[in-house]
Amino acid sequence: MCIFLFPNKTFKNLSFMTKPFNFSTFMREEFACYSKEYATHHVSITGATKLDKSKGGVFLFLHFGSFFLSGVSLIAQLGIKYTAIASTENFKVMDREESKFWKEVHKISNRLYSEKMFLSNHTKSSEILASLKKGSFVGAALDVAEIGKKHKFHPFTFLYNDILLQTAPARLAKLAKVPLYGMTISYDQKLGVHNLELTGPYDSCDVEKSVQMILTEMEPIIQNNMDQLFHDIFHLFSFPRLKDHIITTKQKKECLSVLAPIKQLKSQLPSSFCPRFESTITSWHPHRDFAYNLVKKFRPEIIVELGVHYGDSYFTFCQACDELELNTQLYGVDHWQGDKQAGFYGDDVFQEVNEYNQEFHSQNSTFLRIDFTEALKSFETSSIDLLHIDGSHEYQSVRNDFGNWLPKIKKGGMILLHDILVEREDFGVKEFWKEISKNYKTESHQEGFGLGVIHV
Ligand SMILES: C[S@@+](CC[C@H](N)C(=O)[O-])C[C@H]1O[C@@H](n2cnc3c(N)ncnc32)[C@H](O)[C@@H]1O
Repeated sequence: MCIFLFPNKTFKNLSFMTKPFNFSTFMREEFACYSKEYATHHVSITGATKLDKSKGGVFLFLHFGSFFLSGVSLIAQLGIKYTAIASTENFKVMDREESKFWKEVHKISNRLYSEKMFLSNHTKSSEILASLKKGSFVGAALDVAEIGKKHKFHPFTFLYNDILLQTAPARLAKLAKVPLYGMTISYDQKLGVHNLELTGPYDSCDVEKSVQMILTEMEPIIQNNMDQLFHDIFHLFSFPRLKDHIITTKQKKECLSVLAPIKQLKSQLPSSFCPRFESTITSWHPHRDFAYNLVKKFRPEIIVELGVHYGDSYFTFCQACDELELNTQLYGVDHWQGDKQAGFYGDDVFQEVNEYNQEFHSQNSTFLRIDFTEALKSFETSSIDLLHIDGSHEYQSVRNDFGNWLPKIKKGGMILLHDILVEREDFGVKEFWKEISKNYKTESHQEGFGLGVIHV
């Protein structure tokens, strides 16, 4: 057992040495020693000579328990200016006690770092760029997926797997014209110290190549300390077929032995549906859980959506099919011009939505950028399992969409109708819903603006 002595506190052994591993307990115990004194005397830094202190840089790391400690050690021992990019978005899905704990950690870090952390949901990238250009260093994680955010991932090879990791921090380095470094920190239980290892510097011009080199250099260090990895990376490995993260496993045997230790970790993130995409148009957000569960239960082979706009509902269906590993084909129909109720918009909306679709769902999702009636000829009679109608909301439009598309639905299929509760002069969905409910088996979901389900 190792005991660290501090002026007013005694720190006992880290609980990750005892089994079963409980990350939460480990983090809490570790933060009991999170201080400038500990960072100065109990963290051993390797690779410090590689650091070009004359210009700023970005440290890329994968999550180990002590990732906050690493920053304070760099400041205390190397005299550089350092802060990290942090997220508070995931606090929203933690229970009260856990989010309280992380808020406290952020508060201490803000005090110990050279400047307050950049919060990914509040800070403009121009602020981070300005700080880097002034010669500061910024730490950022590659493996964080923030709840409800649009991410730009790239596939990398890491520990016998192809995994998707964030490229945003590396792209910031490229924009600021500063080098990239790799950073790992792990606890050496024999010596009772933390080992902080720096790799690089790498030219940030070729973002993907540099990140891959950093990951390759990190591999042996991480392989020896798999039990200290934090929950985000745990997520990457614990759902091996979750498409957003691991794409293929290259060497199954080795992979299994490498991954074995972290099986004991309990993830702190919720296991329910966490949207990977959302826009500022929130009207469909209250129905996402329902949509996910519907797809899970119903396992549709073909899903068609009339009215995609930014994709808040559409990408819910896509993500659900992805995570549930279904062979579903999805079709999003929209002329991407807008309408009276949604408002009219420019070509940029389609460009953005299409880019996301291409990047993450191109295998099974197709956009038809045409009028709903024109799209009818692309579908055979009785071919669609699930149709979501969310186009123009006037009575006659909804009635037409329903009537035109009904023959395309398989027997036993379903039609979803959005906005069945809206009482506005230019909305006729409520009226149509009342009518249709008399002739079909329906169920209504009262969240938000209401979602109707019609069984065909
Ligand atoms: C309410 S928005 C869709 C909202 C989306 N489902 C969501 O979750 O945020 C309606 C969309 O339908 C499209 N639209 C309306 N009438 C259309 C038509 N006849 N043909 C093609 N697209 C249409 C508009 O361009 C608009 O993007």
